[in-house]
Amino acid sequence: MGKRKAGGQQGMDHLTLNESMLVGHRQIDAGHAALVGLVNKCVDLVGNSVAAAELHTVLIELRDMFVRHIDEEETIMRDLGYPDMEVERNEHVDGMKRLNQLLDQCREGADLDELLREVSGLLLTVFIKSDMGFKSFLQSIDYQDEPRGDGEGAFVV
Ligand SMILES: [Fe+2]
Ligand SMILES: [Fe+2]
Repeated sequence: MGKRKAGGQQGMDHLTLNESMLVGHRQIDAGHAALVGLVNKCVDLVGNSVAAAELHTVLIELRDMFVRHIDEEETIMRDLGYPDMEVERNEHVDGMKRLNQLLDQCREGADLDELLREVSGLLLTVFIKSDMGFKSFLQSIDYQDEPRGDGEGAFVV
């Protein structure tokens, strides 16, 4: 997360998912990329000084996306027999609590720049960082994504 200031303005830079933040599971990484994309949409909105109500609408979208991601991720973890499931689930529960507080603050007239910094911090330092344990686990079991195949269920003749 950059502390640089974009173009002399006090707006936030877009977040980027760098190599080291990839978990190594296609579906999970795609979920993270989508979350980063939506947070960046918030960065643009706040950069354009939108009203809090408009940001709130996108934050609700973001929360829905988080819920789907968490659900998907926990299923993947469970299916692969990840041993630290409980720790991860607690991270998710705490993260969602915090996100809900931030949504309330958005409605209550909090400073949007500050709020956005918290939202991106939550995504990068809580949600994605907590998946790094799973990344190590995937490496330890030598996990490989299914090859992307040209179309579903390529036939081997
Ligand atoms: Fe995740
Ligand atoms: Fe996670």
